[in-house]
Amino acid sequence: MSDATPKVAEQYAVVGNPIAHSKSPIIHAMFAEQTGADLVYERILAPVDQFAPTVRAFFARGGRGLNVTVPFKLEAFTLSARHTPRAESAGAVNTLWMRDGVLWGDNTDGIGLVRDLTRNLGVGIDGRRVLLIGAGGAARGVLRPLLEAEPAELVIVNRTRLRADELAEQGAAIGRTRAVDFMHIEGRFDLVVNATSASLAGDIPPLPSQVFAPGACAYDLMYADKPTLFMEYAQTLGADLTSDGLGMLVEQAAESFQVWRGVQPETAHVIEELRHRVRAEGHRAL
Ligand code: ATR
Repeated sequence: MSDATPKVAEQYAVVGNPIAHSKSPIIHAMFAEQTGADLVYERILAPVDQFAPTVRAFFARGGRGLNVTVPFKLEAFTLSARHTPRAESAGAVNTLWMRDGVLWGDNTDGIGLVRDLTRNLGVGIDGRRVLLIGAGGAARGVLRPLLEAEPAELVIVNRTRLRADELAEQGAAIGRTRAVDFMHIEGRFDLVVNATSASLAGDIPPLPSQVFAPGACAYDLMYADKPTLFMEYAQTLGADLTSDGLGMLVEQAAESFQVWRGVQPETAHVIEELRHRVRAEGHRAL
């Protein structure tokens, strides 16, 4: 008989409010199976005023890693003592872990977008013209990795011009970026990224009819069981390729998994499986 202590599965979770809809447990369970990892990944519903105690309690009981979702990404940034450069640029954190008693925060959303574009969809960013619509948390989260992919230029447009100016100012230290008004979007773009929540209100950004270059891609950070409003709109304006953000969701999870465990999981089959589930279950834009 062995007296060895039984090995306890490593604990991971996603914390948010609401959290019931989160696909992260399904994605990480697939990563774990694929890489032979013995782990448990749960959903944690934190009361809106109880984020910090919820995080502390999770790590106090030996938790290895936490993903953070709406509405806590800014609070996760404030709470973490150390940040990766991409979290610093995003001003928001979606990945937490504890090392030597220090809480670390990273942001894998932007690299998730860039990987989905370049690896899964075959969309080049290097040397291309990119239009980023939106200047809120989601836009800020993807700005640095987009600029690091070295587009010829990245133009930011937002309903509230001042926010676009502020974001462009932050981005200017990393790459070629500037802000414009919707009325002054000029030239054609190879990639147009919708980082607004306008579609939740049934709105679409007022893009000029000539905005898409031949072969252009329109990418919506939201995802749904059917093409989003923005994707349909982009098609009518002549975008060659349209995509929602389901691949980004899986890629940001894969990067979190890599940050925590040092192993980069394969994502193509996970995206395929998740797409199948989302269609079968029926999902409004998320
Ligand atoms: P998130 O974290 O999802 O980015 P946010 O920080 O509130 O949320 O930002 C929402 C973004 O969507 C902003 O760019 C916002 O534009 P404003 O800065 O002008 O508010 C944009 N947005 C939201 N609803 C919109 C609408 N109906 N039309 C156009 N833009 C909209």
